[in-house]
Amino acid sequence: MKILTFAASNSTKSINKALLQYAASLLKNHEVEMLDINDFSLPIYSADLEEAQGVPEAAFDFLSRIKQADALLIAYAEHNGNYTAAYKNLFDWASRADMAVYAEKPIVMLSTSPGKNGANTVLAMAKNTAHFFKGQVLASLAIPSFYETFDQTSMTINDEEWRAKLIEVLEAFDAS
Ligand SMILES: Cc1cc2nc3c(=O)[nH]c(=O)nc-3n(C[C@H](O)[C@H](O)[C@H](O)COP(=O)(O)O)c2cc1C
Repeated sequence: MKILTFAASNSTKSINKALLQYAASLLKNHEVEMLDINDFSLPIYSADLEEAQGVPEAAFDFLSRIKQADALLIAYAEHNGNYTAAYKNLFDWASRADMAVYAEKPIVMLSTSPGKNGANTVLAMAKNTAHFFKGQVLASLAIPSFYETFDQTSMTINDEEWRAKLIEVLEAFDAS
């Protein structure tokens, strides 16, 4: 199975990206391709801009990368209980080209943050709204207290319980 993975963050030091890199190393039975949302440069969404110029090519490119995959592994960064502005903007533009942004793909959704909730608010929102965008959520996991749970030197989860939970949600790809 070809799994496309990306962090819904534009930070070059994204902890969600670090988590995904570790998660990708666990997916030995699958081909994993990493996408960086910074590669899709877009102006802030505006109805006026859309009317004047249409949906920019970058939004179509993002949709096309999703369509080419068999499944998605996404890790959501949380800003004020919501998507990061960068991901929301990309998602908004993409949805104007095609509401079925997630293109019927099976998805495992993750999130992490330095806090105790592990960005669970944005994760819950992504999960609860995925069906509007034709996403099939297989499993989800919010990993709390990133800097205590994740070893930045070995780039692995050092907490056994959370490592086991991550492995369990990733197994959803094998069953799909
Ligand atoms: C504007 C802003 C708002 C934030 N709001 C939240 C929040 O609501 N919940 C949370 O757990 N962390 C919040 N954080 C901390 C982020 O979880 C932290 O910056 C994290 O590194 C973001 O993920 P990323 O590194 O993958 O981009 C916020 C950070 C910023 C800059």
